[in-house]
Amino acid sequence: SENKLWGGRFTGATDPLMDLYNASLPYDKIMYDADLTGTKVYTAGLQKLGLLTQEELTAIHEGLEVIRKEWQEGKFVEKPGDEDIHTANERRLGEIIGKGIAGKVHTGRSRNDQVATDMRIFVRETLLDLSNKLQQFILAIVNRAESEIDVLMPGYTHLQRAQPIRWAHWLSSYGTYFTEDYKRLQEIIARVNQSPLGSGALAGHPYGIDREFLAQGLGFQGVIGNSLTAVSDRDFVVETLFWSTLFMNHISRFAEDLIIYSTAEFGFIKLADAYSTGSSLMPQKKNPDSLELLRGKSGRVFGSLSGFLMSIKSIPSTYNKDMQEDKEPLFDAMTTVEHSILIATGVISTLSINKEKMEQALTMDMLATDLADYLVRKGVPFRETHHISGECVRVAEEQNLSGIDKLTLDQFKQIDARFGDDVVDVFDFEVSVERRDAIGGTAKSAVYKQLESLKKVVS
Ligand code: ARG
Repeated sequence: SENKLWGGRFTGATDPLMDLYNASLPYDKIMYDADLTGTKVYTAGLQKLGLLTQEELTAIHEGLEVIRKEWQEGKFVEKPGDEDIHTANERRLGEIIGKGIAGKVHTGRSRNDQVATDMRIFVRETLLDLSNKLQQFILAIVNRAESEIDVLMPGYTHLQRAQPIRWAHWLSSYGTYFTEDYKRLQEIIARVNQSPLGSGALAGHPYGIDREFLAQGLGFQGVIGNSLTAVSDRDFVVETLFWSTLFMNHISRFAEDLIIYSTAEFGFIKLADAYSTGSSLMPQKKNPDSLELLRGKSGRVFGSLSGFLMSIKSIPSTYNKDMQEDKEPLFDAMTTVEHSILIATGVISTLSINKEKMEQALTMDMLATDLADYLVRKGVPFRETHHISGECVRVAEEQNLSGIDKLTLDQFKQIDARFGDDVVDVFDFEVSVERRDAIGGTAKSAVYKQLESLKKVVS
């Protein structure tokens, strides 16, 4: 145990499987950069306290940059005893600048405040990157909606044809979910971006380190106000996992719609070859694997959230090793979300739509509500008009007509005397869509306004 940071009090060796079980380096080394920067700023704080000379600080900073370069170039050599990224970097610093100086960097610091700091820096940077990618995704949706504003399609409830809508309105609907995700993400970034550094193992810093100075140096917006909480709070991990879960949930519904729209039965859209795959047996197949993976991976991300919540439930105050289990689900979820945003952006930017198929799928029964509204405009209460319009649907079906628009004026008048010859004006999908011009509706003007406000959120 002489090669272990904490070996002093131990005499017996650890079980080799315990070493493996305990080690987080295989997955926490992706935080090497945050770890080195954290140590850089922390040692500057120690120097301000007179715990390091300027020469020692310079040597430490130079050593840290050597290590950073080794990681960047894939030349860092891991050694037995490097149980995590913090241990590995400190061990290497000692080899480069000598243990005499390197042995001072951890003064007043614990891996408990160190790992919480590294994680928060890493999560902040990753979420900022996701935020940029999400912005591009939203803009791709908005662009598409603007250029295809004229295309109509059926809107569905219960996956049954309901009312005509604009394809751009459908796009704007998901654009709205994703901009809410975008806003939520900014709020989470602000909560992630608080500094635990200078809290020690749990009780606080014994040399009065300037925590505000450390926070500023690391780009944090503030310091966490209680040292016990600072080392043990993983709410930022939970929030990130919840955000990821909710985002992937939206993605899964978006993907499901597109899968349905891409079937031969619907034929509304066609995926670009770049996002489809073939069958090893059936030569004719073109499968929407990209969309199915977007849908399927939402389950994996939710698994990360639920698994991690179970890991930290009921653990006692401050740091416990259970908390090392934050990393794999978090990193996996963040990577999954990143890739999913990129794939979804690619899919939506490259698919082609079949305007004819979309418009052929509109049927006159989808204007039954508009027929009811026609009588409302003549002063008939809606509950009554709903009934009358329903009767029109029934009669048209009984007569085997292709739609309610095929009823003669006489037939309409027989059902209700208040129908006039202007009833024919109801049977126009464009008119139906354009009537819905209140905020949030499917009329062109209303959809344009939605798209403007989506752009405003991400600009
Ligand atoms: N690898 C550990 C983790 O990720 C670092 C903190 C270790 N602290 C401790 N007291 N053992 O949580």
